[in-house]
Amino acid sequence: MAKEIRTIGVMTSGGDAPGMNAAIRAVARACAYYNVKCIGFYRGYQGMIEGDYCEMNARSVRNIISRGGTILKSARSQEFRDVEGRKKAANNLKKIGVDAMILIGGDGTFRGGEIFSKEYDIPVIGVPGTIDNDIAGTNFTIGYDTALNTVIDAIDKIRDTASSHDRLFFVEVMGRDAGFIALNTGVGAGAEEILIPEEDLGLDRLLESLKRSKRSGKSSSIVVVSEGDKIGKNVYELADYISENLPDYEAKVTVLGHMQRGGSPTCFDRTLASRFCVKAVELLLDGQQNVMVGIINNKITATSFEEGLKEGYGINKELLRISDILST
Ligand code: F6P
Repeated sequence: MAKEIRTIGVMTSGGDAPGMNAAIRAVARACAYYNVKCIGFYRGYQGMIEGDYCEMNARSVRNIISRGGTILKSARSQEFRDVEGRKKAANNLKKIGVDAMILIGGDGTFRGGEIFSKEYDIPVIGVPGTIDNDIAGTNFTIGYDTALNTVIDAIDKIRDTASSHDRLFFVEVMGRDAGFIALNTGVGAGAEEILIPEEDLGLDRLLESLKRSKRSGKSSSIVVVSEGDKIGKNVYELADYISENLPDYEAKVTVLGHMQRGGSPTCFDRTLASRFCVKAVELLLDGQQNVMVGIINNKITATSFEEGLKEGYGINKELLRISDILST
């Protein structure tokens, strides 16, 4: 028989994402609604290891739905990778009286949760929160939509100056292993070319495409580059390479960096976080465990960590073809 859940712990881990606060709020409020005690751990797994926590009620999460970042702070805990670290965390949960955990984060967070739940009889539920959108068990992760809008806004501004000076801009966006941000903002901002980790288009093709665009009368261009792209040159080397081989172009580089992880979450991310976390609390109260919540075809789902973390989360390569057609 599933054990009774009287206290639920929540934490945010890995790279922060806009909407994590909306998620924390939803956990605390759903716990209050169902009369369950809620404990927030600081700095993800590290707070569980160190016993760094606070008790949360419905009022402790007031006015945070619109705030970027995470009030519980986030970290990538090295210690939790070791058996000893996980043991400390499990002992602390026992001592504090936490019956189950909700883990808000990305693939690294879920991998940690999967191991932890196999070693200890503590039910966990994963809530996907990362701007990278690189989790197979969901169509969307918390923070992705906000990041897309931040990037689009930045590229639109870059385009203004690019066009005033007839320049070529390489804009690097986040996505160490996944091209979701690059691909979608590339199409959305009307980029000339999009470079993503999932597809190496090659330098020759890039040269050809830029030559063609010059010939067709374009005076400025934007190339969106995912930080994990596989073309074999970083964004600065890429700009140098183009300047050497196509002297007609004046190439500039903008690395958007961590600004992509900040800002007030969009309505989509707030709603998604709210739906995910009510479901996460309800799953635990229903006796379910060791799954991640997700959204598939607009339905909130529960998927095993194993399934949810499978490779091949289906980047839509059709968008590359669309981009090709539209950058004519
Ligand atoms: O949140 C995911 C991510 O944004 C990746 O795209 C990026 O490579 C990474 O985090 C960088 O994060 P940090 O600076 O925290 O190591």
